[in-house]
Amino acid sequence: MTGSPGPGGRALVPWSRVWRWLLAASLVAVITSTLPGSSQACPPRCECSAQLRSVSCQRRRLTNIPEGIPTETQLLDLSKNRLRWVQAGDLAPYPRLEEVDLSENLIATLEPNAFATLQSLKVLKLRGNQLKLVPMGAFAKLGNLTSLDLSENKMVILLDYTFQDLRSLKHLEVGDNDLVYISHKAFSGLVGLEDLMIERCNLTSISGQTLSYLRSLVTLRLRHLSITALEDQNFRKLSNLRGLEIDHWPYLEYISPLSFQSLDLHWLSITNTNITSVPSASFKNLVHLTHLNLSYNPITTLEPWAFRDLLRLKELVMVSTGLTTVEPHALGGLRQIRVLNFSSNDLQTLEEGSFHSVNSLETLRVDGNPLMCDCRLLWILQRRKTLNFDGRVPVCAGPVEVQGVSLSSFTDSALFDHFTCQKPKIRNRKLQQVIAREGQSVSFLCRAEGEPTPIIIWISPQRRRITTKSSGRITVLPSGTFGDPLCPAD
Ligand SMILES: *[C@@H]1O[C@H](CO)[C@@H](O)[C@H](O)[C@H]1NC(C)=O
Ligand SMILES: *[C@@H]1O[C@H](CO)[C@@H](O)[C@H](O)[C@H]1NC(C)=O
Ligand SMILES: *[C@@H]1O[C@H](CO)[C@@H](O)[C@H](O)[C@H]1NC(C)=O
Ligand SMILES: *[C@@H]1O[C@H](CO)[C@@H](O)[C@H](O)[C@H]1NC(C)=O
Ligand SMILES: *[C@@H]1O[C@H](CO)[C@@H](O)[C@H](O)[C@H]1NC(C)=O
Repeated sequence: MTGSPGPGGRALVPWSRVWRWLLAASLVAVITSTLPGSSQACPPRCECSAQLRSVSCQRRRLTNIPEGIPTETQLLDLSKNRLRWVQAGDLAPYPRLEEVDLSENLIATLEPNAFATLQSLKVLKLRGNQLKLVPMGAFAKLGNLTSLDLSENKMVILLDYTFQDLRSLKHLEVGDNDLVYISHKAFSGLVGLEDLMIERCNLTSISGQTLSYLRSLVTLRLRHLSITALEDQNFRKLSNLRGLEIDHWPYLEYISPLSFQSLDLHWLSITNTNITSVPSASFKNLVHLTHLNLSYNPITTLEPWAFRDLLRLKELVMVSTGLTTVEPHALGGLRQIRVLNFSSNDLQTLEEGSFHSVNSLETLRVDGNPLMCDCRLLWILQRRKTLNFDGRVPVCAGPVEVQGVSLSSFTDSALFDHFTCQKPKIRNRKLQQVIAREGQSVSFLCRAEGEPTPIIIWISPQRRRITTKSSGRITVLPSGTFGDPLCPAD
C-alpha cells in the first residue's frame, strides 16, 4: 500500500517544511514528477493541509487506499469513493489517525482488527456502505473511539460483543440498516455510550436486556420501527437516561404502565404512533419530566388528570393529534406548565377549567383549530397582550360575526360584545302532538339556542337518557342527539 519512502520521502518530511515544499512546488514540478518516491507530501488528486494534518480524497473514484498519505496524518477523508473492503493493516502506516471518513463507499467487508493499530482514532464514519455483517473484533482495540457511524448499511443482525472494546464510545449510529435482530449482548462493553440512535430498521422488538448494558446512556432515539408495544421495564437499568424519543412507530398501540419504570427522564417524545390516549399510568414515576411531545398520535380527547404525575412539566406539545376535547381538569396537576402547543387540532374551545392554573402559562399555540370565540375563550382574550402566541395568533372560526377575526385585533370594549355566553334555551317549548298510523315512524323536533350552541339530550318519562345507542324502537338523530335542555320525549 505504502510506497517505499525515498530520500527525503514523504514519511520523513517534517510538517513545518511542507509549506516550503509547496511554495517550491511550481518550480520543481517537472523535476519531482520524474523522481518517484520523492515529493509525496500528498497523494495525487487529493487535497492535503499540513497545518490541519488532513488528507482529503473525497469523490476520487479510488478503489484502494491511495499511496502517499503522510504518516503524521490525523484526518483522513476517503468518502464517496469505490473502496470495497478494509483489511487488517491497511491503515497501520498512519498511527496518528484521529478521524477516518469512509462514508459512501462500497465496503462490504471489514476484517477483524481492521483498525486495531489506530490507538488515537476518535471518529470513524462508515455510513452508506454495503456492510451486511460486522465481524467480532472489527473494532478491536479502539479504546479511544468516541463516535462511530454505521448508518445506511445492510446489516441484518448485530452480534454479541460487536462493540466490546469501545469503552470511550459516546455516539453510535446504526440507523437505516435492515436490522431485524440485535443480539442480547451486542452492546456489551459500551460503558461510556451517551447517545444512541436506531432508525429505520425492521426490528420488531428491543429487549430490555439488550439496552441494559448502556449504563451511561443519556439520550435514546428510536425512529421508524415496527414495534407494536412497549413492555414492562423496556428501559430498565438506564438510570442516566434523560431523553427518550419514540418517533414513527406506526404499529405502536400499547404502552405498559411499567414501561418507563426506573427511568428519570427530563424529556419524552412519543410521536407518529397509533396510541389513542395519553399513557397516563406510565408517567407515574416521571417526576422530573419537563418536556413532553405527543404530537401526531390519534389522541382525540384529553381526559381529566391525564398528566397528574408530571409535577414539573413545563412544555406540552400535542400538534395534529385530531384533538377535539380537552375535558375539565385535563391539565390538572401541571402547576408549572409554561408552553402549551395544541396547534393544528380540532378544538372548538379550551376552557380555563382544564388547567391547574393558567397563571404559569407563557406561550400558547392554539392556531389551526376551529375556535368558537365565546365566553369560554374570554380568559385567553384577557391575557392576549401578555401571552406569547409564538407568532401565530389564534383566529376565530365562529360565531359568524367574528369569523376570521384574529384574537389580537379585538379591542377591550369589544370583549364583552362577543365573548359573552347566552344561557341555552329551548325554542317553542310546548307539548308536541303527532297522530300516526300503527307501524309508521314518528319524529319530534327539538330546537335550542344559546352561545355556545347547546347540546341536546332527550330524557324518557322514566327520566332515563335516550342516546343514539339506545336499543329498541327509539333513535335519536345526530341533529338533536345531545343536549342540556330537557325536551319532553314520547
Ligand atoms: C488513547 O490515546 C492516547 C493518546 O492520545 C494514548 O496514550 C492511549 O494509549 C490511547 N488509549 C487507548 C486505549 O488506545
Ligand atoms: C425491511 O423492510 C423493508 C421494507 O418493508 C424491506 O424492503 C426489506 O427487505 C426488509 N429487510 C429485511 C432484512 O427484512
Ligand atoms: C391504527 O389503529 C387503527 C384503529 O385502531 C387501525 O385501524 C389501524 O390499522 C392501525 N394502524 C396501523 C398502522 O397499525
Ligand atoms: C414534536 O414532535 C414532532 C414529531 O416528531 C416534531 O416535528 C416536533 O419538532 C416536536 N416538537 C417539539 C417542540 O419538540
Ligand atoms: C408548536 O408546534 C409547531 C408545529 O410542530 C412548531 O412549528 C412550533 O415551533 C411549536 N411551538 C412551540 C412553542 O412549541
